[in-house]
Amino acid sequence: MPPTQTTNKDHWTSKAYNTSASFVPKLTSTVVSYLDAQPTDTVLDIGCGDGPLTAQIAAAAQLGRVVGLDASPSMISSAQADYAHSKHPNLAFRVADCTKLSKEAPDVLNGSWDKVFSNAAYHWILRNPETRRDVFVDAFNALKPGGALVFEMGGAGNVAEVRSTIIAALVIHGIPLDEVRAADPWFFPSEKWMATTLEDVGFNVEKVELEYRPTKLTGDDEGGLDGWVRLFGAQLLEKVNELKRAEVVKWVVEVLRSSCRREEDGSWWIGYVRLRAVAKKP
Ligand SMILES: C[S@@+](CC[C@H](N)C(=O)[O-])C[C@H]1O[C@@H](n2cnc3c(N)ncnc32)[C@H](O)[C@@H]1O
Repeated sequence: MPPTQTTNKDHWTSKAYNTSASFVPKLTSTVVSYLDAQPTDTVLDIGCGDGPLTAQIAAAAQLGRVVGLDASPSMISSAQADYAHSKHPNLAFRVADCTKLSKEAPDVLNGSWDKVFSNAAYHWILRNPETRRDVFVDAFNALKPGGALVFEMGGAGNVAEVRSTIIAALVIHGIPLDEVRAADPWFFPSEKWMATTLEDVGFNVEKVELEYRPTKLTGDDEGGLDGWVRLFGAQLLEKVNELKRAEVVKWVVEVLRSSCRREEDGSWWIGYVRLRAVAKKP
């Protein structure tokens, strides 16, 4: 059974993101170097979140235009507040579900963009198998001939220890495995899946790479593993009622203590696997 969206609730807030995941827009030097933004570039940022990385790209593309799209009204209003159009005239943010751009932002699919970019968002956006191919068809249609799609996302095996532990916790707390799987919010593809899909859509694939990148989480005072599980695992945790949720998170953190906690300083680390790709529209 394909996973279905269990809820349209906005699970994102800039505050929780900055507390528990501030490292996400920072660990981006490789994908940003692949983007190689030029001063006159026009860039569409898919799943831009609360905007710091989009603003960094806009600073490089000063004479061009950069538009960030995100499904979360909370993240977009934070981006608009932090990077006001009046002070950043080449930068704009819009709420749009990037699984349905042909309905929600058809004007961006105009074959005019130099680059389509995305960081840490496609593994959410590609969750539904039914709209996966369309997401790349939209990127293809947005680009001008010769334009590049450049992105980083979770790849096969990403955060496997946390994902499996949350799933196990929910099953132990009485939720049937099929139901838990249907609520799993992520798709972490292999290089092979990605290269085949991009080629099938019509891209010339220049690069698809997978990197195992253990990542240090924020400290316990700022969120730590508890905050990470609550923010990124929100759709899974919704399977249990609010009263049980704290118990489930505690169980997950205790089980993961064995594999994710470092003895020397008590820091939490998760096995991130990043998939990066560069594909050109002929
Ligand atoms: C981990 S954040 C990454 C944000 C930003 N790109 C960064 O590097 O900090 C993932 C973002 O994907 C967005 N997202 C998830 N599903 C989406 C969808 N269907 N359409 C657009 N954005 C989506 C979320 O709202 C969230 O802001």
